[in-house]
Amino acid sequence: MAKIELKNVTKSYGGLQVIKGIDLEIRKGEFMVFVGPSGCGKSTLLRLVSGLEEITTGDMLFDGQRVNDLVPSDRGIAMVFQSYALYPHMKVYDNMAFGMKLAKAGKPEIDRRVREAARLLQIEHLLDRLPKQLSGGQRQRVAIGRAIVRDPRVFLFDEPLSNLDAALRVQTRLEIARLHHGMQDVTMIYVTHDQVEAMTLADRIAVLRDGKLEQVGTPAELYERPNSTFVAGFIGSPKMNFLTDGFAHAHDCATLGIRPEHIDIAEAGPWSGEVVHAEDLGADHYLFVEIGAAEPLVVRQPGKLALPLGTRLSLAPRLGHLHRFDANDAPIR
Ligand SMILES: Nc1ncnc2c1ncn2[C@@H]1O[C@H](COP(=O)(O)OP(=O)(O)O)[C@@H](O)[C@H]1O
Ligand SMILES: [Mg+2]
Repeated sequence: MAKIELKNVTKSYGGLQVIKGIDLEIRKGEFMVFVGPSGCGKSTLLRLVSGLEEITTGDMLFDGQRVNDLVPSDRGIAMVFQSYALYPHMKVYDNMAFGMKLAKAGKPEIDRRVREAARLLQIEHLLDRLPKQLSGGQRQRVAIGRAIVRDPRVFLFDEPLSNLDAALRVQTRLEIARLHHGMQDVTMIYVTHDQVEAMTLADRIAVLRDGKLEQVGTPAELYERPNSTFVAGFIGSPKMNFLTDGFAHAHDCATLGIRPEHIDIAEAGPWSGEVVHAEDLGADHYLFVEIGAAEPLVVRQPGKLALPLGTRLSLAPRLGHLHRFDANDAPIR
């Protein structure tokens, strides 16, 4: 287990700075998620933590010890990537044992650790198979198992679910959450561009934007108190509605944010308009209502869709759930 500290960390490739001064402390045993749009620097930041890339300026500390110059194998980390890269000619057991064999661990110790990891991931019945005899989800579990066997202090994941189909993603996500609960001492950093993964797995989320930290907080903090329209729009699905001009001025702000789940159909609400589109998801539905703003307002309603397109509605935002931002995109509270 390790506390990880980043102190004004930057990374440049040639003249191009892609990590622009990051200060962050990740607690022992914490599940930290780096989230942000493609190209914002998530993988680069993870590779800096791992030691696969050298930081350009700043400091990286593990448990107070400067690790800037330590190679990955001396940092006590294990990584799981999007592509699982198992050795195709080796059985699952040998894939999982390989790192320990290289490290010249004894046979009984290897066997104990492989079986323990296999039990944790419920892949004991797969140990005699070759990778080609496994599904994508099983292969990813073996890749995770191979990392666990090395008994890391820090576990790093880079978009480990993005090659899996939707159902397997949900199932494997659950397994990673269970794994975290079963390895309370191990600090985990998990990179994803998927805000649902971030919200469901994280103790805390670090939102990255263009090489900088935009906001760090628990999922609830980011959802309830986003520090910018960027975070507000990134966290939550369907996305927060943003209103400007008269809609915002009525609430003394430049941009008014309101989530689809915080708008009610009302007798005489302040907004009204026609339903121009609807999406029925079964358990709930989304109404797209043309209220005269730049884009239709998305309203989330429970249950099955019962309104025909063209229905006129009066709508009221729940006042305790308004997000107001000034002209500089700073929150007004
Ligand atoms: N080895 C490299 N050489 C030059 N530029 C790189 C290298 N690796 C990443 N970059 C650039 O750094 C930025 C961040 O990339 P990356 O960390 O992969 O983003 P993310 O994982 O968030 O999608 C991108 O603009 C990317 O092109
Ligand atoms: Mg990446």
